[in-house]
Amino acid sequence: MIPYGRQNITQEDIDAVVKVLKSEWLTQGPNIKKFEDAFANYIGCKYALAVSNGTAALHLSALALEIKPGDKVITTPITFSATANCVRYCGGEVVFSDINPDTYLLDINKVKQLLESSPNGTYKGIIPVDFAGKANDLEELRKLADEYKLWIIEDACHSPGGFFIDSYGQEQKCGNGKFAELAIFSFHPVKHIAAGEGGMITTNDKALYDRIRNLRTHGIQQDPALKQFNHGVWYYEMQELGYNYRLTDFQSALGLSQLTRVNKGLQRRKEIAKIYNKAFADKSFIKGQSGFMEGHAYHLYVIEVDNRDDLIIYLREKEIFSQVHYIPVHLMPYYRQFGWKETDMPDAEKYYTQCISLPMFPTLTDSEQDYVIKNILTFYT
Ligand SMILES: Cc1ncc(COP(=O)(O)O)c(C=O)c1O
Repeated sequence: MIPYGRQNITQEDIDAVVKVLKSEWLTQGPNIKKFEDAFANYIGCKYALAVSNGTAALHLSALALEIKPGDKVITTPITFSATANCVRYCGGEVVFSDINPDTYLLDINKVKQLLESSPNGTYKGIIPVDFAGKANDLEELRKLADEYKLWIIEDACHSPGGFFIDSYGQEQKCGNGKFAELAIFSFHPVKHIAAGEGGMITTNDKALYDRIRNLRTHGIQQDPALKQFNHGVWYYEMQELGYNYRLTDFQSALGLSQLTRVNKGLQRRKEIAKIYNKAFADKSFIKGQSGFMEGHAYHLYVIEVDNRDDLIIYLREKEIFSQVHYIPVHLMPYYRQFGWKETDMPDAEKYYTQCISLPMFPTLTDSEQDYVIKNILTFYT
């Protein structure tokens, strides 16, 4: 069977994990810092913090930016629920803003309208999502955020290695910390880097980094100079309510090993995208497709089609397991209780009825991809 995404575990990955399993440190060992430093270097930011998963990364970011009960935060409905949920963990209010039907990302003009139509200070922050691997134009979003004094958490779970081109013609890598206070990544198996579960927070802000480092470990102060008391060499000090959101040392070793191949995987994803694009160019059943982009990290390859539901069933019969990304989050029963309903986000809702994510992962073979394409073409002819 051909899934829409699949991890790629090599003998080097296995050896790296086994080495840690045979060592002194299963957790809080040396591989965590090595993974953080290597990831920060890859992304081009100053600080990176490894955490237990992408959801924990979002929660810690929301805590560090001090979302309080009732605070309004803007995000996209076309994402995984965790993006919105981090606001709710802190008691904040999620305000969905519709997508741009061409990019599937938050539509900056609609965000602007939302901000302009409310008194200043109504909103605290924005969480854009680099959906499918396509980078948001964070330079534009930053300008808007500065005008309205908002923070930005970039949900870059889909976009390690992705970038947008800024107004100076420079590549700006997702999560590099130049435009958003914080960015978050996930190392769930279908992502670019698989660590079983795992996540990373990146930033250029030392104060946020220090705060999140403490919150990641129960709110225990990591800096001896900032402890209020000192009872002896055994003494540790919990200064605020934190969590255990640490990544283990063996997961970090796996992430570190995967990171050495991340560029190769990204190149392969781009090759696969080019082949799909070519196969579907000018096909009348295609209702929407984001044309090939060099800065796209292609976590997902999404097209919009007629008869989407029947196509999914047809492909399953052929052992091809496509997926739908995403059910608009505002239509989840949990969010409906806050008044969200059909017709609130027309572009996201239309997209939802037509979108399908096709198999996209570095080890997808040419013949497997060919089989997927042939079956789609057969279905429509
Ligand atoms: C856009 C997005 N945000 C957040 C998450 C949450 O990450 P995790 O599954 O590692 O908790 C995911 C994972 O699926 C995601 O795709």
